[in-house]
Amino acid sequence: MRDFVNYKNIQVAFSSQGKGSAIVLIHGFLENNTMWKEIIPVLAKKNRVITIDLLGHGETDCLGYVHTMEEQAKMIKVVLNHLKLRKHILIGHSMGGYIALAFANLFPNSIKGLCLMNSTYKNDDNERKTLRSRAIKVVENNYKNIVKISFTNLFSEDSRTAFKSEIKDALAEALKTPVQGYIAAQEGMKIRENHTNLFKNATFKKAIILGEKDWIIDSEKALLFAEKNDITAIILPEGHMSHIENRKGLIEALVEFVKK
Ligand code: MLT
Repeated sequence: MRDFVNYKNIQVAFSSQGKGSAIVLIHGFLENNTMWKEIIPVLAKKNRVITIDLLGHGETDCLGYVHTMEEQAKMIKVVLNHLKLRKHILIGHSMGGYIALAFANLFPNSIKGLCLMNSTYKNDDNERKTLRSRAIKVVENNYKNIVKISFTNLFSEDSRTAFKSEIKDALAEALKTPVQGYIAAQEGMKIRENHTNLFKNATFKKAIILGEKDWIIDSEKALLFAEKNDITAIILPEGHMSHIENRKGLIEALVEFVKK
């Protein structure tokens, strides 16, 4: 069911489906609840599944021009408190994973498990920060093109032809993100903390799902990190957008993670 809650005088959209132990799905940059539409029915067979439109995305309003990962996490906590949920599994796609880690840092007692999906525990290096600053500077005058190019680049080359119509639909959703939401997310990601130690040392169940051809995440390094620290790692052969490029593989990995 689609519902709304107030956070610092803005409207936050969320939905809740199914019964059982709660799983919170956190979408990434330029995404919204619709990215989970094929995954929710599978997970909701045995769990209560919550999706939330992040600040500046989907049907949730913006809150200024910098949406820090912590601000997003606090907003999520308000939604979960509203639903009277105390402990949950978090699954975060890309920026959603950065936010899940910020949540774990702020509210460690509320976490039962955390799965990073095409995401990382690391912060931005200088090169990535510069790229974000450049994009922020030019985005206002050329929004559609910038989003189109950066969005298409997230898919492996093979996927770009194999999933043409799915990519078109996802791009249409991405373009619904207001320019302010784009800028605030980029600013927030740029200043996010490094949570390597948190992820390494946390005692809740953990997994990382990677894409071999994901240029945003160094999957080889992440795989080594996971092996060394006894963290479950699943590597899929595609790019950054597992929910589109390999839905079957992703769902299998998520179902396994949740039931473990
Ligand atoms: C995302 O997919 O959420 C973003 O591309 C992540 C990022 O820019 O670091």
